[in-house]
Amino acid sequence: RAQRALIRESWQRVRGDPVQHGAVLFGRLFELDPDLLPLFQYNCKQFASPQECLSAPEFLDHIRKVMLVIDAAVNHLENLPCLEEYLCNLGKKHQAVGVKVESFSTVGESLLYMLENCLGTAFCPDVQEAWTKLYDAVVKAMQRGWDA
Ligand code: HEM
Repeated sequence: RAQRALIRESWQRVRGDPVQHGAVLFGRLFELDPDLLPLFQYNCKQFASPQECLSAPEFLDHIRKVMLVIDAAVNHLENLPCLEEYLCNLGKKHQAVGVKVESFSTVGESLLYMLENCLGTAFCPDVQEAWTKLYDAVVKAMQRGWDA
């Protein structure tokens, strides 16, 4: 379907520099919901500011992990159910570190913000709709981890 092509094309631009674009995503996320910052702790140490978090190697690794999950979804558009079990487990892990299901809608908003920031005028309503659908499917699968 045409939506899949839009996803693949637009992701091509992001995947060239995942950490930079991921930092735009999480920078926006902390702007929209500063309460998410304390959920990221490495060796029990809390970050004093989003800037400090966004420059910590452990957090940059989390950015890479997030981008890899999105990459996997983009690579499996024809067969998302094969990621279902992985995503459910990933949801469980996020529940365990104190993430609320509702926060994933703020993450979705931040994802669209990052895409618009990266794609500029190529971020048209069709692209937005295609990404919203894909992201919703990923979140729905992760959500099962909370219900389980
Ligand atoms: C692991 C927090 C969103 C993918 C983690 C960890 C924390 C965390 C604290 C464990 C430490 C670490 O590995 O750095 C959050 C918060 C989020 C969020 C607060 C937003 C509210 C996401 C999203 C994805 C994702 C949207 C991908 C779609 C991962 C992966 C891991 C991870 C792949 C590693 C899991 C493993 O060790 O098996 N997350 N995360 N995270 N997160 Fe997130």
